[in-house]
Amino acid sequence: MKDRTFQPLERPVVGEMNVPGDKSISHRAVMFGSMAKGKTVIDNFLDGEDCLHTIDIFRQMGVRIKQSGLHVVIESDGVEAFQEPTAPLYFGNSGTTARLMLGILPALPFFTVMHGDPHLTIRPMERVVTPLKLMGAQMDGRKEGNYLPIAIKGGVLTGIHYELPVKSAQVKSAVLLAGLFAEGETTVIEQTKTRDHTENMLRAFGADIVSNENTITVTNKRKLRATDVTVPGDISSAAFFIVAAAIVPNSYLTLKNVGLNETRTGIIDILLEMGANITIENKREISGEMLGDITVRYTKLKGVIVEGDIIPRLIDEIPIIALLATQATGSTVIKNAEELRVKETDRIHAVVTILTTLGAKLEETADGMIVHGDTKLQGGSIASYSDHRIAMMGVIASLISEGSVTIDDVSSIAISYPAFFDDLAKVTKER
Ligand code: S3P
Repeated sequence: MKDRTFQPLERPVVGEMNVPGDKSISHRAVMFGSMAKGKTVIDNFLDGEDCLHTIDIFRQMGVRIKQSGLHVVIESDGVEAFQEPTAPLYFGNSGTTARLMLGILPALPFFTVMHGDPHLTIRPMERVVTPLKLMGAQMDGRKEGNYLPIAIKGGVLTGIHYELPVKSAQVKSAVLLAGLFAEGETTVIEQTKTRDHTENMLRAFGADIVSNENTITVTNKRKLRATDVTVPGDISSAAFFIVAAAIVPNSYLTLKNVGLNETRTGIIDILLEMGANITIENKREISGEMLGDITVRYTKLKGVIVEGDIIPRLIDEIPIIALLATQATGSTVIKNAEELRVKETDRIHAVVTILTTLGAKLEETADGMIVHGDTKLQGGSIASYSDHRIAMMGVIASLISEGSVTIDDVSSIAISYPAFFDDLAKVTKER
């Protein structure tokens, strides 16, 4: 591992920037483009490690995929032509790839083995395996199929009516994807609406899918129609820069072409509630998803309560929201976010440990944290837990620290934001 030390920023964050393509949408574009017969072109693809694993997996099943940077061309003879991979499929760190593929592989007429890196290998899969087994999927893995490696023998699936016990778009998506191949109808009911990129994109690829509030029904349709996809910027990546501009005095930053699907914009709602000076312009729709330009100007913020139905709309942004809250007046309480404990790392514990080390005042709770505001960060040495979003939060914290911040390893940032340091340099350089 390679330590890196980051110095405080003595200037505001200023300028105009683009953020990389959305990770959730990039994964789905590769998956559905591979399943559809014909040619699918993806623009503004996220060339981060997680999405590159998704490409590799379909290549191993015989799909022709050319990727050069942000441009991907998929030529597929359709899901019927997929070939049995001769080696285990490697998912790296990517929970989204693993969970969504768990919904596709059991319907394919061959045998597959899924494995991942040490972090993915301890993430729970039972939440996906349980409904799939109810549909007739034949699969097993460590600890009764709860953990990778998992082996799958393809077969016949039957549609189900399933109430999701967890608020998870990955679980919802896996069941809906299995439903594409299952006999009859498959209905998923969510307690709280989670990101709906699967539904939007399946519709664009010609699937029979109907959403009504929190109920989504898909009907068996193996044949998808190839469709080009332009991926909006990832609001979860933009979040690091939005927060940087919100906490570094005198900042003024515009982020262009950021995805604004309302199942993902919880961070904007929270910032507005905290009193942020934030505007959205040029709002439009591309490939079934909303996007626009976000401008943030530094202003003093106040603490809020983050709980309930907003949690799935900002789940990946909670680490950076916690940093934001250390600079607001009063306390911020984050509740109902227990899902953070099973992300790339236990993000509740990681965030509280890191920000406390840097000099902030936080209390860890079972399902979130209490962040006491108005604390000056001092700097220090922290671990990134090999988690991309934790590492980026640490780097943004260094901008407002009194002393430098040393992070044990920032290589995980390439999972979702390969150009993070270049982009940061552009908006923090001396002018
Ligand atoms: C994702 C869903 C969320 C999110 C993850 C990406 C997706 O996970 O945290 O980064 O693309 O469907 P959960 O489904 O576990 O909440």
